Amino acid sequence: MTQRLVIAIDGPSASGKGTLAKRLAAHFGLPHLDTGMLYRAVGWIAAQTGEPPAKVAARLTLADLADPHLRSDEAGQEGSKVAVMPEVRANLLKFQKEFSSQGSGAVLDGRDIGTVICPDAPVKLFVTASPEARAVRRYQELRGRGVDTIKPRVLAEMAERDRRDSERAAAPLRAAPDAWLLDTSEMDADAAFAAALAFIERKGFRSSGP
Ligand code: CDP
Ligand code: CDP
Repeated sequence: MTQRLVIAIDGPSASGKGTLAKRLAAHFGLPHLDTGMLYRAVGWIAAQTGEPPAKVAARLTLADLADPHLRSDEAGQEGSKVAVMPEVRANLLKFQKEFSSQGSGAVLDGRDIGTVICPDAPVKLFVTASPEARAVRRYQELRGRGVDTIKPRVLAEMAERDRRDSERAAAPLRAAPDAWLLDTSEMDADAAFAAALAFIERKGFRSSGP
């Protein structure tokens, strides 16, 4: 029997983990879950409706992740605020565990995939990049979407979110002890994909597709 391929990808904002996760999922023909979207949706819906975030988390479905506004930095900040709440995290756990246990495997990216959601994943990647490189990427992304902002503001907001994500008591952003560290500061998305794929193939996993 071939081993199920679960790829757990963690890292800070704009490290490139989402782009890498999507490409690896396409390469290996696996479903991908961007778990940041779950927190963004909970934070955003709770802010709009005034409902307790834990209650929103308990009834969240895939359909709630479709709102384009969830990609905004505002929703990212709301997401990181509700992500400090242990009850919110607990209520999102089952959804993520079920997603990772289906079929021949899955790719999940977030902050606590290798440490909490999929501690037994055969492949764990921790993607990092310098705060400056990450701020430049986010700035370019925002400008590309027509958002009027300045680099120092993007850097400051990113530092605030980094701090909240790594200093919180509930599942702080940490590399799992058995995670492979990939620093993408000097790499474009193609180079990061090539490096990650080489690492996964060294572990004996190959794409079964054409
Ligand atoms: O795309 P970006 O990296 O900026 O953020 P995201 O992955 O969409 O995550 C939004 C927020 O959700 C983060 O700042 C974290 O606080 C939280 N999050 C989390 O706590 N655990 C996860 N597995 C994923 C996201
Ligand atoms: O998911 P996360 O917030 O970690 O980052 P992302 O949304 O995957 O990537 C943020 C931006 O960095 C995107 O515009 C990517 O094209 C770019 N990028 C990358 O993904 N990987 C690199 N090694 C370099 C840049």
